[in-house]
Amino acid sequence: MKPIVIGNWKLNPTSLSLANTLYTDVQKGVARLRKVEVAVAPPMVFLSALAEKAKGKKTFLVAQDVFWEKLGAHTGEVSNAMLSSINVKHVIIGHSEVREQGETDDEVAKKVSATVKAGNTAIICVGEKERDDHGHYLALVEDQIRMALQGVPKTKLGNVAIAYEPIWAIGTGNTATAHDAHEMKLFIQKVLSDMFGRTALSKIRVLYGGSVNKKNAEELYTQGEVDGFLVGGASLKADNFIEVAKIVDRL
Ligand code: 13P
Repeated sequence: MKPIVIGNWKLNPTSLSLANTLYTDVQKGVARLRKVEVAVAPPMVFLSALAEKAKGKKTFLVAQDVFWEKLGAHTGEVSNAMLSSINVKHVIIGHSEVREQGETDDEVAKKVSATVKAGNTAIICVGEKERDDHGHYLALVEDQIRMALQGVPKTKLGNVAIAYEPIWAIGTGNTATAHDAHEMKLFIQKVLSDMFGRTALSKIRVLYGGSVNKKNAEELYTQGEVDGFLVGGASLKADNFIEVAKIVDRL
């Protein structure tokens, strides 16, 4: 599996024209990289315009969320089939900012199940609000993973990635140490292996997200031994994001 670097733009930028520019700059900057996959997750409303630009390009597109139903009376929602129809095949699910708005583990599970069934890839976010000395944060991450993957058959594990995003590290500049990230990667792999057997480990990437930027990416990548990054704030500056992708490509 190639490592992957994904820029989650969240509620940015403010216009399609700025989104076009950011996408184009990123695409130019990473066009020659061969050992890393690069993607960006713009707001839903910009996806179809950017999908035209992304045709045949290295930088592919990811949706920031999806609904589990295929069609019908669900105002405001977007389905996997709609995303696939514009060639968007990856979806972030269970981001802490969406969970914070009330999304439950059950809804995350429905979204994940619908996504893999549709042949798309679910990038499932997990992570604790805070750490404690008793390992409760590990139990919480384990629960999140078990719940999210409850409807995923073994044959669809290639359509799953896990992004460990400790909430305390998101947007705070307070990144996890490489040691924290590595320990959690091993823990997540243990959970996956308990659920699906060891073969699951060669199919599911474990990413890290939370204040990743060009300054800390090298240490997090080499010592954290993660399979890539989900980058928030730093992905809004093309040069910073391109540098993160280059670091992963080089190492
Ligand atoms: P920051 O990189 O801004 O901390 O955001 C991380 C994140 O939430 C990516 O999904």
